[in-house]
Amino acid sequence: MIHKTSQPALTPVLATSESILKLRIKHTRIKQVIDELNTLIYPGSQGSILLVIGPSGVGKSTLAEYMVKKAVESATPEMNSDAGLIPAVYVEAPASGEDDFSWRLFYTQMLAELGEDLSAPKVAYGINPATGKMVRPRGISPGGLAGLRTAVERCLKERDTRFVVIDEAAHIIRQTRRSRLEIQLDTLKSLANKGCSQMVMVGSYDLYQLVSLSGQLARRIHVVHCERYRQDRPEDVLAFTACVQKFQSVLPHLWGDQLVQYAQALHENTLGCIGTLSGVLMRAAKLAEADGRWTVSALERALMTDAQRTRILDEILEGEAAINPSLTRNLPRIKPGFARNPLEAA
Ligand SMILES: Nc1ncnc2c1ncn2[C@@H]1O[C@H](COP(=O)(O)OP(=O)(O)OP(=O)(O)O)[C@@H](O)[C@H]1O
Ligand SMILES: [Mg+2]
Repeated sequence: MIHKTSQPALTPVLATSESILKLRIKHTRIKQVIDELNTLIYPGSQGSILLVIGPSGVGKSTLAEYMVKKAVESATPEMNSDAGLIPAVYVEAPASGEDDFSWRLFYTQMLAELGEDLSAPKVAYGINPATGKMVRPRGISPGGLAGLRTAVERCLKERDTRFVVIDEAAHIIRQTRRSRLEIQLDTLKSLANKGCSQMVMVGSYDLYQLVSLSGQLARRIHVVHCERYRQDRPEDVLAFTACVQKFQSVLPHLWGDQLVQYAQALHENTLGCIGTLSGVLMRAAKLAEADGRWTVSALERALMTDAQRTRILDEILEGEAAINPSLTRNLPRIKPGFARNPLEAA
């Protein structure tokens, strides 16, 4: 018979899902991507669109939500004096189920985030100073697409929104004919310009086709690679192990100090993606909960299958191969004896 004191795991195990779900590790890759994005978002930067691309389960959505939350937190003093300020917005590009991307749904979601009254997009209206009556600009129907769009542009401007994160941005380009992709991107760019907000599109490697389809599109985009932790880079192995350690430390009564010894196996199985790692550990903890205690078998059962892993790895390798050469920017070599500046030679 198991003595009562030998079952300390039971109570904390019940809180398993919450502890893992609540955990937000500010790991190395997240810090790198956030620093890069913060550098690239500046007044006037909206001339080009930022693309945050990375493997499925690397933690892109979590990163995007974190960025918006931080922007709002750090603008709290300004927001206290200017209640209308919304420094950053997160929206998910809708999968409309229609043939083409639904800009109507997208604008409606943006307006909801920007706190606009959807029944009457009042920013499409104005007050006639002579009569004091409300007037509607001619040709813009408030419920029409143009009305919604104008409302979004004005809201972005009036709310002084520095950047807009569009998650699942591949929905915008999916089902879109190649010839129309430029139009889709132009629509976003002009929204950015008129609203004076930086657009940040987030998605998996399929979003990269925006860059590879034409030079026209490539010129208007800057790619930030949210890469997995690779097993062939010692610094990545250390950073990934540190994440496993963090997951271990939120449930000390469940794993004790037993989890970190499986860091290499977890790295291999999750392909170095922290979101995927979180999913595996969540399942492992749930299985342990059902078993009443933690075992290695629970961890094994929680791993991705070979088929799943192979499928994701194929996508990652293809994506990395597409992105990496273009991220290598070669400067022309200067031959010895040649002056760097032609004016200096004169
Ligand atoms: N930094 C982190 N710390 C702790 N947990 C995380 C972190 N990043 C992601 N997760 C967990 O992993 C889950 C999946 O991550 P997320 O949805 O951000 O991945 P993704 O890259 O957007 O995936 P997809 O390509 O499927 O959209 C999240 O719901 C979250 O619980
Ligand atoms: Mg996501």
